[in-house]
Amino acid sequence: MSTPGRFDLLIRGALVVDGTGAPGRPADVGVAAGRLTVLPPGRPAEAPQVLDAEGMVVAPGFIDVHTHSDGITLITPGSTPGGGELVWASVLQGVTTEICGNCGSSLFPALPGRLEDMSRETRISFGGEVGIFQDFAGFAARHSARPRANHLASLVGHGTLRAGVLGHVDRPATPAELDTMCALLDLSLSQGAAGLSTGLIYTPGTYAGTDEVVALAAVAARHGKPYVTHLRDEMSRVEEALEEAVEIARRSGAALHVSHHKTAGKYAWGRTARTLPRIAELRAGGMDLTCDVYPYTAGSTSLSAMLPPWANDGGFPALAARLADPAERERMRRAIAEGVPGWENTVGNGGWDRISIACAPRHPEIEGRTIAELAASGDADPVDVAAGLLTAEDGEVTIISHSMVEEDVQRVLAAPYAMIGSDGVPKPGGRPHPRWAGTYPRVLGHYSRELGLLTLESAVHKMTGMAAARFGLAGRGVVRDGAHADLVVFDPATVADRATFAEPLLPPAGIRTVIVGGEIVVRDGLPAPARPGTVLTT
Ligand code: ZN
Ligand code: CU
Repeated sequence: MSTPGRFDLLIRGALVVDGTGAPGRPADVGVAAGRLTVLPPGRPAEAPQVLDAEGMVVAPGFIDVHTHSDGITLITPGSTPGGGELVWASVLQGVTTEICGNCGSSLFPALPGRLEDMSRETRISFGGEVGIFQDFAGFAARHSARPRANHLASLVGHGTLRAGVLGHVDRPATPAELDTMCALLDLSLSQGAAGLSTGLIYTPGTYAGTDEVVALAAVAARHGKPYVTHLRDEMSRVEEALEEAVEIARRSGAALHVSHHKTAGKYAWGRTARTLPRIAELRAGGMDLTCDVYPYTAGSTSLSAMLPPWANDGGFPALAARLADPAERERMRRAIAEGVPGWENTVGNGGWDRISIACAPRHPEIEGRTIAELAASGDADPVDVAAGLLTAEDGEVTIISHSMVEEDVQRVLAAPYAMIGSDGVPKPGGRPHPRWAGTYPRVLGHYSRELGLLTLESAVHKMTGMAAARFGLAGRGVVRDGAHADLVVFDPATVADRATFAEPLLPPAGIRTVIVGGEIVVRDGLPAPARPGTVLTT
């Protein structure tokens, strides 16, 4: 620490919204050696850099609790100002920490003998050569060798863990395999991974029964880390899926965090009126239970997730063979039309007219169009269109699914235990979901300032202090003496998202300065040269 009154950087004249939910108050903020000091307004102090922030809000840097940014800085040389739009989209929103490894998908852990097979799958899911690592330490070492503007933490993805031991197969784990999975999970958690995530609608996660997940969540519980889940169903059977998660939390003793809570598809619209009171009741009964949410009525995932789980058994090579077989394709068509017990059938719950193409690298001309439109224009069946695309693209097709209603999104946003997570999928090419570039300013501008759904303090709390508490990020998510100097300075009168489905990476308005570890990484809304980002352990 330098002597009192002398700082590396001083922010003058702002309203400090400190991330705890407490009312904003005028204060100056000093940064020295990467730590904060909060000063009464106008207190004499010196620093080589002084930011005049009159009329601005200073808040803790936003913590994006739900990303799929595991590999983007490993494939994109985004460390040059002006380059790497995908890498910068998050930072330009004010996000100073990203938590990846969500929905059961991370870049570790795996047995050494499985690494080669898995690198193909990760290339498909992450859109480039990102590597796959035996444990969190290997993942952290690779990331630490790449300059980055903001911090990164990662959960352990159950789908990756399962594929890393059993392969991409539709069968229960043997007791020995489950022991191996528990040991790999235990190692990565002890190295500093932030918790366990599942994606129980996705293969291979969906091949696991409840007992397998209980055994793994118990390992997370021993580390005092949360069980984070993309529920087995977010559509017509969302309430049953929530109860499965509650059972897993109860039997394992782990804290429960429900990812991107939604009730999607026409049969589940309005169902947050039941799931949220249920969550509130469980919390009142003492359960440590939280969720996150993104502020849009559309989701995004891969086209292959529209097919029944058995279609993906054996990974992409097996899927490609089934897609080429007319009888198997007919079975898929029937499964989508009639449903399969235990499977969230997105198309059956909505229709192909709600599924649009976000990214098909070899067919950029169809990006933005729905599968139903493509089928009608070619006088083809939508399942055949989807099958043809998956085959031609080697499985690499990202979709946007317009599956929710506004009323549900607002109800979840307003829930006092719901934090904000973008669920951003930064994958090169195409038109990704705008949430990767717009989530935080959209909550602050549209939902807080314009609609009055949340106070400014509550909105900031959901992006900072609440997130840090859930994921064990000590000394972050708050503006107070001694906290890490991760900060965002924004204009509360103009902050707004500009990213749209047509132009998904447009940077926001009103996010002025972003500071990571005491260094300015965004200045006047533009990337600055410093790369202070690190891999965070919890
Ligand atoms: Zn998910
Ligand atoms: Cu996700």
